[in-house]
Amino acid sequence: MKTQIFDFTKSPSPLANLGSLVEISRLLTTGEIVAFPTETVYGLGANAFDAEAVNKIFAAKGRPADNPLIVHIADSKMLNVVVKTVPKKAKALMDAFWPGPLTIIMKKTEAIPMVVTAGLDTVGVRMPSNQIARMMIESAGVPIAAPSANLSGKPSPTKGEHVLQDMNGRVAGIIIGDDSSVGVESTVIDVTQEVPIILRPGAITSEDIRQIIGEINVSESILKNVYVEHAAAPGMKYRHYAPKGELYIVGGTDQERQAKIAKQIKEHKNKRIGLLVTDETRDLYQADIKLSLGSKNKVEELNHNIFACLRRFDTLKVDIIYAEALTLNSSTMAVINRMYKAGGYRFI
Ligand code: TXA
Ligand code: MG
Repeated sequence: MKTQIFDFTKSPSPLANLGSLVEISRLLTTGEIVAFPTETVYGLGANAFDAEAVNKIFAAKGRPADNPLIVHIADSKMLNVVVKTVPKKAKALMDAFWPGPLTIIMKKTEAIPMVVTAGLDTVGVRMPSNQIARMMIESAGVPIAAPSANLSGKPSPTKGEHVLQDMNGRVAGIIIGDDSSVGVESTVIDVTQEVPIILRPGAITSEDIRQIIGEINVSESILKNVYVEHAAAPGMKYRHYAPKGELYIVGGTDQERQAKIAKQIKEHKNKRIGLLVTDETRDLYQADIKLSLGSKNKVEELNHNIFACLRRFDTLKVDIIYAEALTLNSSTMAVINRMYKAGGYRFI
């Protein structure tokens, strides 16, 4: 398939991209799929009312059919077509965090076909803040079902070039914008439970959410490799974000990590080894390939860089990656969750 590339990097303004926007909404309203930037990661969108179009997303990604998609909206009019009711706590979360990187799971209406939600009677809804994403949804005039725009299993795309690598030739259109500012996918919270539960951590932390709605739970599968047959977030049971190289997480004090990594490098002389480190610890290690996530103390940097670093290791054809363990708290939970999944929960 010939993919149309829409370059919005010169100007993100609607006026400058009028011709492209008309063509993009034509594609979306005639059952085609289009990749687009958001503030979290790039998404791969289809008209959420069109089951045939949504099927094309699963085919293009190679995504298992039992992993539901998030529906993206531009305004509250769209919200009312997508969900049956908006619980009080959901409303409070929307007021606090929308538009932005929070997906809220609520009861779906009949308007949303089962293929979008993988047969569930609930739907995850998000109102993105990225200007291009909002223009696209508004001009299409329909809610947009969209997972991350990577091939299933690969790290999520945070740059236009990542999307081109994975989706060129597989989709009708790709919008190229700036790099995703946040860099990890949205926080997912299910408010259909008595006590709302966070199913996926993101830039909006459990503490941020507690401040607004009080008691919440955090799914135990976020930091543990629990396989649950009927997982609350079905996506959690799949291999995720994996770079081509095997990734191991290395814990301990600075000295312990230094020693562990030196030993591994010695034992794998014939392998190409890469280290995933932080600005503060970079100089502790001797290795040819060292990529820094940024400063340990700036979680926005860690979030922003994690997926780009994982993809960079692929480009550098690294066989084994040793990733420095990060200190866990509510704000580092998102990047640690992505790192654990990328490593298949292998620790040294
Ligand atoms: O930031 C994001 O959320 C990005 C951008 C494109 O908006 N999208 C994204 O979609 O990360 P995806 O498909 O890669 O991840 C969606 C996650 C999956 O883990 C899925 O299982 C969960 O949300 N999810 C979606 N609908 C759900 C539902 N009804 N119940 C439980 N989990 C749901
Ligand atoms: Mg994804």
